[in-house]
Amino acid sequence: MKILVVGGGGREHALVWALRRELPEATLYAAPGNAGIAGLATLLPIAASDLDRLIAAAVEHAVDLVVVGPEQPLADGLADRLRAAKIPVFGPSAKAAQIEASKAFAKDVMTSAKVPTATYATFTDLTKAIAHVETHPEPLVVKASGLAAGKGAVVCATHAEAGTTLKEMMGDHRFGAAGDTVVIEGFLVGEELSVFAVTNGREVRILPPAQDHKRLGEGDTGPNTGGMGAYAPVSFATPALLERVEREVLLPTLREMEKRGAPFIGLLYAGLMIAPDGTPWVIEFNCRFGDPETQAVLPLIEGGLVPLLVAAANGDPLPPVSLSTQAAVTTVLAAEGYPEAPKKGAAIAIPEKLPAGVTVFHADTSDADGTLRANGGRVLTVTAVAPTFREAQARSKLACGMIEFPGKVWRRDIGWREAGRTGT
Ligand code: AMP
Ligand code: GLY
Repeated sequence: MKILVVGGGGREHALVWALRRELPEATLYAAPGNAGIAGLATLLPIAASDLDRLIAAAVEHAVDLVVVGPEQPLADGLADRLRAAKIPVFGPSAKAAQIEASKAFAKDVMTSAKVPTATYATFTDLTKAIAHVETHPEPLVVKASGLAAGKGAVVCATHAEAGTTLKEMMGDHRFGAAGDTVVIEGFLVGEELSVFAVTNGREVRILPPAQDHKRLGEGDTGPNTGGMGAYAPVSFATPALLERVEREVLLPTLREMEKRGAPFIGLLYAGLMIAPDGTPWVIEFNCRFGDPETQAVLPLIEGGLVPLLVAAANGDPLPPVSLSTQAAVTTVLAAEGYPEAPKKGAAIAIPEKLPAGVTVFHADTSDADGTLRANGGRVLTVTAVAPTFREAQARSKLACGMIEFPGKVWRRDIGWREAGRTGT
């Protein structure tokens, strides 16, 4: 079996690691991969944005499957072009990727499918957007409709803040063209949950539910980031709740996508707000695996991942996967100055011996000069798997303390909500 993973972050390191664990003999490629992936797969020096060369490489190496990590190449049509070249791909078409790439489209799909989601209105005109804000109750959420690296949603406590945010997005083009259309939403109350559903377009297999921490500071405060850590499973996400998510969110969405001529194949990521009454409200959909949740979710899949991805890619019935009964906690180690102005170049020292059950996934490192160095915002993601949540949390933290690099930024409270819920 030959598999190509597209991307080069912590999520892709976890994907390659999980594929390698299941298929010790397979030929694995990663494009472009990273220094951590190099020991597990052959790196192809092709950017995830270079669609022409990715397709040429997939054809040249006659791969049996392509797994696409990031959203941008999907939105740009990578999966469509691979399918046209008869290469099985786990990832949606450009049209289906609109479920992430256009929040306006996603809201429209949810409304048609009667999926619970916050009330909203879409604007391309700043004056009209501001007029809307003034007549709707605080707090409000202002979102750039297009792709903004997970940073395009701003929760605004007051009308004034919403007005300022709209001016930044629509007037000053803070998110470029992604902010030309904005979605203004009502504020949802509850607890967030990330649900990853592998789908062949019709049916779903739900992977262990996760929670991530988007804010920089402990206690979920401070600026939004790409994600500072995650854990899985989440104890309040019972089988009954996940069944409800499947019935009320995932399946109706898939049916609506199919109806629109945009069947969704790949990983449908539902970012949910679970209300106090148990209703799963959709905050957003993503069209790919989440980062850093993937680094906590995949280590809990003990078998059957490859057949599942292959079946989904081919539109075949989905086989079951075997799930671990353990818990996983992932802590991100970021560079000094993250998220505004991360410093590159800090030399990283990872001890030979880390606590049991710990795996270090590289998010953005470089060893071009022979020394492993921080090369961007999120540098490493450190996952611990253990029999209990508490033990996994303790080991992830312990390992993060042992890994050294100047200026490292990290949260010591990943999973604090779960810690408050479970004695173990
Ligand atoms: P998004 O980029 O849409 O996932 O939003 C980023 C974060 O903003 C989410 O993880 C939530 O914490 C928050 N958020 C977004 N939309 C809403 C909403 N309608 N109500 C409450 N919080 C929201
Ligand atoms: N963890 C959030 C995301 O991947 O978008």
